[in-house]
Amino acid sequence: METAQFETDLSLFKYDNLEQLPPAYRDLDEDERTERIEAALAELGDDVVILGHNYQRREIVEHADFVGDSYQLSKEAANADADYVIFGGVTFMAESADIITDDDQSVILPSMEASCPMAGMAEALQVDAAWAEITAATDDDIIPITYMNSYADLKAFCAEQGGLVCTSSNAHKAFEYAFEQGDKVLFLPDKHLGENTAHRLDMAEEIVEWDPWDPEGKDPEEAAENDIILWDGYCQVHERFRASHIEDLREERPDANVVVHPECRREVVEAADVVGSTSTICQTVADAEPGDTWAIGTEIHLAKHLDRWHPDVEVLPLCGDACMDCNAMRQIDPNYLTWVLEELVEGRERNVIEVAPEEKELAQVALDRMLEI
Ligand code: 13P
Ligand code: SF4
Repeated sequence: METAQFETDLSLFKYDNLEQLPPAYRDLDEDERTERIEAALAELGDDVVILGHNYQRREIVEHADFVGDSYQLSKEAANADADYVIFGGVTFMAESADIITDDDQSVILPSMEASCPMAGMAEALQVDAAWAEITAATDDDIIPITYMNSYADLKAFCAEQGGLVCTSSNAHKAFEYAFEQGDKVLFLPDKHLGENTAHRLDMAEEIVEWDPWDPEGKDPEEAAENDIILWDGYCQVHERFRASHIEDLREERPDANVVVHPECRREVVEAADVVGSTSTICQTVADAEPGDTWAIGTEIHLAKHLDRWHPDVEVLPLCGDACMDCNAMRQIDPNYLTWVLEELVEGRERNVIEVAPEEKELAQVALDRMLEI
């Protein structure tokens, strides 16, 4: 269900069982909310585990049992014994947790509005139609790889076609695996991560960007002449960064170092000192010497966390006030967290993410292939 109130051009809600926050939870002040969250957690004990992505707000991260990148969170979900996994993240991450956890565990996404726009840029139905075109255009074997930032039905599709899932921390390994299985890779949905990974593997000459619906774009035969075919998806939070931000910073602050996420444009990654997943970004700042300066090219909440977590390091957002927060991640509001926890205390499960059984089995294959590489 999309309502006028929630409709934005940045969000595509994957699930239609959108439960809105009851009015009584809308104006809680932070002290009261913290007290209530802690009371509910004390009551629920080991029945609940809270996983928080690095881009979550401070008020979520502070209550999380584990904070990390997408790959680490999927491993934590796989190891979780709790009956309820509360996921501070976005829909595709919670779906992956549901796929990986046992059937008697429930994965709860406090707000169903937390849908990553990039995941919505490669819907399984679209990819299926494009796949028919690209595979008809070549005799070579194409292996599809989907970034974790995609929905379960696309992960299932990739598994069915011999492909797998990757995250920003293991995309290069997924490419290597794919080239052992076949001749070409179709990489979905993030063209920048795909391009950056091709460069990392010295395969920059093999890349083509392919949008099957662009009348001006390459036809399938032309696209299939290349070994790495990139879907035309991107993250608007990371596209915001430009090489000029790094040039300006280097001029003003020659002592500053730059770390960026591989969802950034190629020119940005090339100009940075370090590139890596959100956990690599965290580790880079954690390993810095006191007095060092690091500019962070990723979602703004993570830059703020790093500034708080490492007071002896100077942490700057790479493009200053122009750095964005992720509209999808922001939907996980601490009031929602209070609500879903108090509902669990009352024995009611709210906003449960349940991947359809027919997709679950196959998507699990694609995730297992990733966990094994
Ligand atoms: P990480 O896997 O690096 O945590 O990134 C997830 C993400 O959504 C980045 O935009
Ligand atoms: Fe999606 Fe970008 Fe948000 Fe990551 S930062 S969840 S890719 S919109």
